[in-house]
Amino acid sequence: MTGPFSALHHRSLTDPEGFWGEAAGKIDWYEPWERVLDDANPPFYRWFKGGVLNTCHNAVDRHVAAGRGDQPAIIHDSPVTDSIFTITYRDLQDRVARMGGVLRGLGVEKGDRVIVYMPMVPEALVAMLACARIGAIHSVVFGGFAARELATRIDDAQPKVIVSASCGIEPGRVIAYKPMLDAAIDQATHKVGSTVILQRPQCEAALIAGRDHDWQAASAAASPVDCVPVLATDPLYILYTSGTTGQPKGIVRDNGGHAVALSWTMEGIYGARPGEAYWAASDVGWVVGHSYIVYAPLLHGCTTIVFEGKPVGTPDAGTFWRVISQHKIPTMFTAPTALRAIRREDPEGRLIRDYDLSSYRALFLAGERSDPETVRWAETQLKVPVIDHWWQTETGWAIAGNPMGVELMPVKYGSATVAMPGWDMKVLDFDGGEVPAGDIGALVAKLPMPPGTFPTLWNAEQRYRDAYLSEYDGYYKTGDAGFIDADGYVHVMTRVDDVINVAGHRLSTGGMEEVLATHPAVAECAVIGVNDQLKGMLPLGLVVLKAGVDQAHGDIVKELVGLVRSEIGAVAAFKTALVVDRLPKTRSGKILRGTMKKIADGDSYTMPATIDDPVILEEIQGALQTAGYAQTA
Ligand code: COA
Ligand code: AMP
Repeated sequence: MTGPFSALHHRSLTDPEGFWGEAAGKIDWYEPWERVLDDANPPFYRWFKGGVLNTCHNAVDRHVAAGRGDQPAIIHDSPVTDSIFTITYRDLQDRVARMGGVLRGLGVEKGDRVIVYMPMVPEALVAMLACARIGAIHSVVFGGFAARELATRIDDAQPKVIVSASCGIEPGRVIAYKPMLDAAIDQATHKVGSTVILQRPQCEAALIAGRDHDWQAASAAASPVDCVPVLATDPLYILYTSGTTGQPKGIVRDNGGHAVALSWTMEGIYGARPGEAYWAASDVGWVVGHSYIVYAPLLHGCTTIVFEGKPVGTPDAGTFWRVISQHKIPTMFTAPTALRAIRREDPEGRLIRDYDLSSYRALFLAGERSDPETVRWAETQLKVPVIDHWWQTETGWAIAGNPMGVELMPVKYGSATVAMPGWDMKVLDFDGGEVPAGDIGALVAKLPMPPGTFPTLWNAEQRYRDAYLSEYDGYYKTGDAGFIDADGYVHVMTRVDDVINVAGHRLSTGGMEEVLATHPAVAECAVIGVNDQLKGMLPLGLVVLKAGVDQAHGDIVKELVGLVRSEIGAVAAFKTALVVDRLPKTRSGKILRGTMKKIADGDSYTMPATIDDPVILEEIQGALQTAGYAQTA
C-alpha cells in the first residue's frame, strides 16, 4: 500500500495524539483536554482526558446555531405504518430538550442510567439524545428481546427510568411491548421507579398510575433543559452484547472519543457530506444503529433515515431502492443478509430499475461476513461500490474497511479491506506468536485501541480484562479469526467462541443452552450455529433427555422452541432441536460444538485427538443426516 490512505494510517499509529487531536477539531468542546491519549495506566487507555463537551450539543444544538435548523434531521420512513414523517434539527432540539426535562423531572441526574426499549420510531433517538443532553447514560435494549433479557439488563444497568412504547410493528402483526416491559420490571430485582411510554395508535397500553407516564403528556408539560457539560471520559451509553454465557456484556462508550472517531468516519470511511441524507438500515438496538442511525449522521449534520420495515415484504423487495430514491440517499448501510433476502425475491434486480438512483454513491455492508456472491450481485445491479467493513459492538466503528472518503481501494472479495486509522492489526497463533501473511489465526489489535472503542465493561472491569486483554498481552482479542494477506487486506473468517451471527444479529449459543437446560426433560444440551443461505447461520439445538422421560420428542422440541422464544425472543430464530442419545465430548468433558457444526454443515473435519468416544460423533452425524443436515456437496 502506498496511496494517501497508507500515509494517513501510518500517521495514526506513529502520531496518534496528532492524528486524533486534529480530528477532534470537528467537535465543539467547552474545555480542551489535558492529553489526547492518557496511557498512564495500561492496559487501560483514555482519550481526551479532562476535555469537556456534550454529545447532544454536538449532534443537535450546534447545527441549529449554525443555520441547519430547517434541515431535516430525521426522516421516519415506515412502510409498516404507511407513513413518512420528517423532523427538522430545530424541532429535534425542542423535542430532545423537553424529553430531557421529563427525565430530569423523574429524578434522572448526570451518571444515572435510563433504559430505552423501543421500536424504530424517532422517539427512540429523542430519548437517547435526551439522556446525552443531561449527562445520563442510556442503555438501549433491542425490541426483539423478550422480558427475561430485558430483566437481566435492568438488573445490571440499574436504571432510574425506562423509556418504551406501547408496541412495535412487525410485518403482519403488532407486538405489544408493554406486557413484556411489565413482566421484565416484575422479574428484575432492581426496582424501577418510573417509565415513560410512547402510545402508538396501533395498540395503546394500559398505564400504571404513579409509575407509567405518557410520553406526549409528559413532554408537553415539561420545561426544556440545556445541555450539561460532561467529561470526555464520562460514559455516554452502555450497550449489552452477547458473550459466551447468558450474562450479556455491558459495553461502555464514552463521550469524547466516540464523538471524535464517529465524526472522522463519516468523512473518511463513508465519504458523507453535511446536509446529505445517510441511511443505516439497522435497528437502534444494535451498535450499527447507535453509531450510524443516531450519532454519526447527526454529529456530521446529515439527515438520518429511521426505517421501520424489512428489506422484503414491506411491501416488496424494492423498498430499499424506493427509500434511496425518494430521500435522495447517497450512502446506505445494511447487512448482507438483507441483500440475500432481496436477491432471493428479485434475482434479476427488476425492482431496482423502477427507481431513480442517480444520487446513490455507495453501499456499505457489515454485521457478518460478506459472501462474494452477494457482493458481486449488488455491484452488478446497483453499479456503485459495494463496501464490506468489519466491526463489533465493542469497537463502535469499523476496525477494517475501505476508506472511500480518503481513497477507494481495490475491492478483494471476501475481505473487509484494510485496517482503519488507529487500528494496528495482527494475526497471532495459539502461543501468541505472529503468523506469516496469509495464515489464519486470532485477529487482535495492538493496544491502545483508537478513540470511540470501549474503555471497559459496565461494572465488570475484571471481566473486561479476562475476556479481551489477558490472553494476548498488550493486545485486544477481537474474538474473530482470519488472516491478513500480503497487501495488508484483512479477511475475517469466523468467530473463535460460541457467539453466532443470525441475520446480522449477534447471539450467544451459551445463552440459548442455559434456556434449554431449564426444561424439565433435558439432561444435557448444546446449541450450534448451522450455515443458512439467507440468515448466514441458524441456531440448532441438540438435546439429551433425562432417563425415564417418555414425552413425545416432537412435543419436547416444540416446548424448547417456545421456551427460547419466550425467554430470549423471536430474534433468536431458534426453530429446531434434535433429540440425541449422547453428546460428543473431549476427555475433559468439553462438548465438541465446533466439530458438530462442521458435520452439520457438511464440511470435512478431523477427529479431535482429545475425543472421549469417537462413536458418538458417528451417532451425531447419523442424527443430523436424518434431519436433513450434514449433506456434503
Ligand atoms: N421486535 C419484535 N420482534 C422482532 C423484532 C423486533 N424489533 N425484530 C425481529 N423480530 C422477530 C421477527 O418478526 C421474526 O419473528 P418470526 O420468527 O415470528 O418470524 C424473528 O424476530 C426473526 O427476525 P429477523 O431475524 O428479522 O428475521 P425475518 O425473517 O423477519 O427477516 C431478514 C429476515 C433477513 C429480512 C432480516 O433479518 C433483516 O433485515 N436483517 C438485517 C439485519 C440487520 O440489519 N442487522 C443489523 C446489523 S447491520
Ligand atoms: P456485533 O457486535 O453484533 O456487531 O457483531 C460483531 C461480530 O460480527 C464480529 O465479531 C464478527 O464476527 C461479525 N462481523 C461483523 N462485521 C463483519 C464483517 N464485515 N465480516 C465478517 N464478520 C463480521
